[in-house]
Amino acid sequence: MDQAIGLRELMKEHRKTQSKLRVIGVTSGKGGVGKSNVAANLAVLAARAGRRVLVLDADLGLANVEILYGLKPRYHLGHLLDGDVPVRDIIAEGPEGVKVLPAGHGLQTLTRLDEAQRMRLVAAVDQLEEDFDIIFVDCGAGIGDNVLFFIGAAQEALLVVSPEPTSLTDAYATLKVLCQEGGARYFNVVVNQAPNEAVAKDIFDKLSSVVSRFLGAKMRWLGWVPRDENVHRAVMSQKPLVGLFPSSPATRALNSVADTLFNEPPPIQLEGGLKFLWSRLLRESSVH
Ligand SMILES: Nc1ncnc2c1ncn2[C@@H]1O[C@H](COP(=O)(O)OP(=O)(O)OP(=O)(O)O)[C@@H](O)[C@H]1O
Ligand SMILES: [Mg+2]
Repeated sequence: MDQAIGLRELMKEHRKTQSKLRVIGVTSGKGGVGKSNVAANLAVLAARAGRRVLVLDADLGLANVEILYGLKPRYHLGHLLDGDVPVRDIIAEGPEGVKVLPAGHGLQTLTRLDEAQRMRLVAAVDQLEEDFDIIFVDCGAGIGDNVLFFIGAAQEALLVVSPEPTSLTDAYATLKVLCQEGGARYFNVVVNQAPNEAVAKDIFDKLSSVVSRFLGAKMRWLGWVPRDENVHRAVMSQKPLVGLFPSSPATRALNSVADTLFNEPPPIQLEGGLKFLWSRLLRESSVH
């Protein structure tokens, strides 16, 4: 009981501080369209632009971003929830100053936390809010519980689509659930592995018109990334593309996506930071 009151007080305090932190959940309808590569490289570009960046590798069990960065972290979120390791020790050093928070199996319990675990998570989230300007959450594909949770909790979603017809229909199905169940209303879109800009733009236009018509959500065109063999080479070397191949077509495209994402304000007013994650955690806890 005391703990519950403490938690509410903490949350009130937290809400008073207006956060500038951006939490961007990266997702897609279909798997394998390039989410982790987009997230991992945009994070490096954000760090180069002077932002303090964290990537939360929330793709359960697959540890995508860790592999792309060539990391073998010692700890993950599960250690934090169990009270064994403080959040700062869990965070691993990625390339060019990017930090990585490996979720490991910790995510499996995230929607079913006991009181002590919740307190630890809330304290950790508060710490992150102070330490970072941007958090990318690599959410995984589709509409599993964790994707819904994180997209619902994140301030902004970044949807990655590829030109295959199934990617488009899967993207729409995912958006529908994210809007109806996750409460998402605003999506940044990157078309990845496109043959040219006209094809990429056409995909965006189609998706954006059905989404605004049937789901009432807004979509923002961030840009497109061409199919580029260097992406595969970078994956194999476990180093970020933007560092390894600075003048490749995909790097140039990602730079332009980063420019829009980081420098042009979102077209609608977004509520701030991690407080969504907070309130969501607390709301879900009160259900039990
Ligand atoms: N622009 C691109 N050009 C060429 N190949 C690409 C491009 N983007 C991604 N790929 C290829 O697609 C593969 C999958 O990319 P990535 O792991 O980023 O996808 P994902 O959406 O995160 O997948 P998952 O759903 O499994 O997490 C990469 O290993 C890479 O070889
Ligand atoms: Mg991935």
